Amino acid sequence: MSFEDLGEGPTEGTDPSLFDSIPEIQNAMDMAPDARTSAMMERWDELSATQGERGKTTAWTVTSDRLQTEFLTSHPELNEPGAVVIDIGCGVGDGANVLRQAGVDVIGTDCSEMMLDLARGCNPPYSRLIQHSIIGETQLAGAGIAPNSVKGIVSYGAMQSFPDSGDTKGEFDEEQMRKALNQMHYVLEADGVVSLAFLPPQEKDFHALTTVIDPDRLAQIMKEEGFEITKNEAVPNAYDHDQGKGQIQYHLIEARKLAA
Ligand SMILES: C[S@@+](CC[C@H](N)C(=O)[O-])C[C@H]1O[C@@H](n2cnc3c(N)ncnc32)[C@H](O)[C@@H]1O
Repeated sequence: MSFEDLGEGPTEGTDPSLFDSIPEIQNAMDMAPDARTSAMMERWDELSATQGERGKTTAWTVTSDRLQTEFLTSHPELNEPGAVVIDIGCGVGDGANVLRQAGVDVIGTDCSEMMLDLARGCNPPYSRLIQHSIIGETQLAGAGIAPNSVKGIVSYGAMQSFPDSGDTKGEFDEEQMRKALNQMHYVLEADGVVSLAFLPPQEKDFHALTTVIDPDRLAQIMKEEGFEITKNEAVPNAYDHDQGKGQIQYHLIEARKLAA
């Protein structure tokens, strides 16, 4: 997936014919979203128009392939028979390419129907695709994912859509983050693992709906919500902007669910 639009406003000109036939997608968005969430979802629907070009190797796909390879190498249990991994904010599928190619059973979730429609074209496919926002009241468990049923969760490039705190722009809403982490914790098996790549604070102006996440603050909250942090590190060369607008830095946190 290209991340070119992250630092800019929404892309104009979605071609509606791209989305003529949106297949039935399990809908887990039964609560009315707030205004910011609606705007965020509309934005990702619009951005999907520029994300569908497959087979394109970008700095992001190289980076996310590497993150997945390292994650899978250090957690071979993710590919045991019966093991399930969720890709939260799956977009067009780049964040789980390596996992799916390795034969891992991956469920994709995304708030954007249009992104999900593109994810339906992935080969190898996701085992399921579910429309679900990780921000809000509808639980992953309410979206049909059973408690303690998931071995791993990846979420690459989706957490920057978290609401900011409202007081200080660029600081994430802690309550929403705790709710999201609780959802992940609830569906993970004991010792299940998460891998989260997100935008840390950096010298760059992002879109108004993009929130940067302080890694140490997130790590602290994850510990408080029942995770053991196993990695907390910058992602080198995450995205070298190809239009000369500067590099976008990413950060990776990996963690393991501690038994309740
Ligand atoms: C930058 S793309 C990353 C996609 C993919 N993970 C990758 O690595 O290429 C971010 C994706 O997160 C999704 N997203 C944003 N906010 C979300 C939320 N609250 N819940 C679920 N998905 C969300 C967007 O629709 C978009 O598809």
